[in-house]
Amino acid sequence: MGFPKNFMFGGATSAIQCEGAYNEGGRGLTRMDIMSAGSLTQPRYVTYIDQDGNPGKLDGLFAPLPKGAKGACLDGYTYPMQTGIDFYHRYKEDIALMAEMGFKIFRMSISWCRLYPNGDEYEPNVEGVEFYRNVFKECKKYNIEPLVTLLHGDTPLYLECEYDGWNNRQLIDFYVRYVTTCFKEYKGLVKYWLTFNEINNIVMMADMFGQKADDKTFQSGYQQLHYQFVASAKAVQIAHEIDSNNMVGCMICGIPFYPATCDPEDILLNRYTWEKGILYSGDVMCKGEYPSYSKRLWKEHDVHLDITGQDLDILKNGTVDMYTFSYYMTNNVTTHEATDLVGGNMSAGVRNPYLTYSEWGWALDPKGLSYYLETIYDRYHLPMMVVENGLGAKDVLEEDKSIHDPYRIDYFRTHFKAMSDSIDNGVDLIGYTSWGCIDLVSGGTGQMSKRYGFIYVDKNDDGTGTYNRYKKDSFYWYKKVIASNGENLD
Ligand code: BG6
Repeated sequence: MGFPKNFMFGGATSAIQCEGAYNEGGRGLTRMDIMSAGSLTQPRYVTYIDQDGNPGKLDGLFAPLPKGAKGACLDGYTYPMQTGIDFYHRYKEDIALMAEMGFKIFRMSISWCRLYPNGDEYEPNVEGVEFYRNVFKECKKYNIEPLVTLLHGDTPLYLECEYDGWNNRQLIDFYVRYVTTCFKEYKGLVKYWLTFNEINNIVMMADMFGQKADDKTFQSGYQQLHYQFVASAKAVQIAHEIDSNNMVGCMICGIPFYPATCDPEDILLNRYTWEKGILYSGDVMCKGEYPSYSKRLWKEHDVHLDITGQDLDILKNGTVDMYTFSYYMTNNVTTHEATDLVGGNMSAGVRNPYLTYSEWGWALDPKGLSYYLETIYDRYHLPMMVVENGLGAKDVLEEDKSIHDPYRIDYFRTHFKAMSDSIDNGVDLIGYTSWGCIDLVSGGTGQMSKRYGFIYVDKNDDGTGTYNRYKKDSFYWYKKVIASNGENLD
């Protein structure tokens, strides 16, 4: 058995982490452009000039800018996403390398502020529209199917400052205008779409490390999520109207939780953590209605939502065609006192003694991928794709420009085996795109040295480097895997 005949192997990126060229082609700004570089121990900051002209910084990645403040670059900080890996100018070279590996699918995102610089304009920026058209054409040249995320964490900054971002219902209309442009302009070039990257993070991350956020944060989190669900459901309907071949997916940050002990209290906490962090979003997007446990979740934080009858109809009629998700790790939860806390990627838990951890503290758990695939498939019976998965690790560029990364090959081998087992167990898995198939700027820390790629990019954390591309050992390994349709994992 193993991978089905038309299985789509490929890789994934996002616009903000690789395009660079932040002030070219008529592009507007996003919060990520003014986010400084950090590290495992050093947080990233969003920097600004306040209304009295004083510099300031926010250390909550998602906290709103103070009233009247303007996002700004300040002396003493580097802003890695402004240059990314310069995909904007080098996409032809990058796509050719992906084609050389045999990619069938390439996940990338469109930057909303390249098409609508402020987000609320009526007409798109033609230069932005043409840029993506050229990228998609380049993919088609090699028979690579683009898989396009419509929003990967880069809502235009103007909408955040002037409209209070996704707390404002008006964002639904702006988003719908933007995505309608995408569906119309790229009809025939793009078939696979994802509406919002890791939509569930906004609520899941509020409980990170048990420092439970206050009710106000949850009120805002659940409300923003509701507006995004409605926007997503509208996008699904419009995508289908414009081209019935379009397949639209949700994108969930897939972190399976395990109870740390067999104490029934832990078993129940585990169930509730799944519901709050993972299932709540999947249920609305796949089943088209709020699940019964929503009432408990809202009551827990005294949340009262603006939900209209029309919204509920939209949700019902805009369910997704496929369940797509990221998978990096599992997390243990417990009601018992715990001191050894670990976490990453918007979620945290207690160290699992049966697992090993990456340098960034992310649990390595291929079996967890099977567990997730089988649990979710059983719930929704929709085609599934793993659209992010990979190992962030430090690589060494040798003098002869080779890069030996056996740790990454091991990681993929065990995760591919897990996928193949789940396919044998009945899961309809149709594709896989490894995260950061070409090294890019880390979303969490802003580092370049946290590398995921099969392709090495010669750029350092401080922004220096040639930006030249080099093939890692894993490049040749993945090429062999794809050529054998996942049969040869040696
Ligand atoms: C996912 C995001 O959560 O994790 C990506 O969708 C991100 O944008 C990826 O880059 C890996 O996280 P990090 O912090 O290692 O870049």
